Amino acid sequence: MFRDLARTLLHESTILARLDEIAARITDDYRGKDLTVIAVLNGSFMFMGDLLRRIPLPLRVDCVSVASYHGGTESSGRVTFDQISLPDVAGRHALILDDILDSGLTLEAVAAKLGGLGALSVKTCVLLRKRKERTVAIDADYVGFDIGDEFVVGYGLDFQEKYRNLPCIAVLHPDVIRAGLDAPAGASPEEVPSPS
Ligand code: XMP
Repeated sequence: MFRDLARTLLHESTILARLDEIAARITDDYRGKDLTVIAVLNGSFMFMGDLLRRIPLPLRVDCVSVASYHGGTESSGRVTFDQISLPDVAGRHALILDDILDSGLTLEAVAAKLGGLGALSVKTCVLLRKRKERTVAIDADYVGFDIGDEFVVGYGLDFQEKYRNLPCIAVLHPDVIRAGLDAPAGASPEEVPSPS
């Protein structure tokens, strides 16, 4: 798995040190308030686990499952919700956690959905924010790191469902992306050649 990486952008220790800072801010901002944290799956599962254990508040946790990339490295522009029941945030403060703010379509769609469910407030927290022009007018309230506009994997983020378990954030070797995009739909990971 590690030989597929072109370079590491953020090491685990760097990520965890930044989570200490964000968790402290969130703890201060939501002390005494009824908070529900809504994690956007699958990409934010590692971020959620590491961040929430640093927030000593009696918060609730819920998840929503959305998809917009469908195997490629660019947003399809269409955000689909997978689950039938949505979080009960009525009368509570909602904080959405996502792995990355890229096109912004996902956060915008989730925030709009929760806003319509009677939340007292809806804020957003992302581990990564790409420096780029966005067509949607959304920004995150809490941001771990600003990064360049390139496709990244690891720490929950995937390419074709692989690399989520990397402990760091990394950039894939271009050959790996090319081979993955060229592979016939449904090909197993073993059939996608790695760069030598
Ligand atoms: P948008 O474009 O809606 O993206 O802001 C949100 C979701 O898309 C996925 N995403 C990525 N996944 N590397 C990934 O592995 C990336 O560079 C990347 N950019 C977007 C991710 O699931 C995110 O929640």
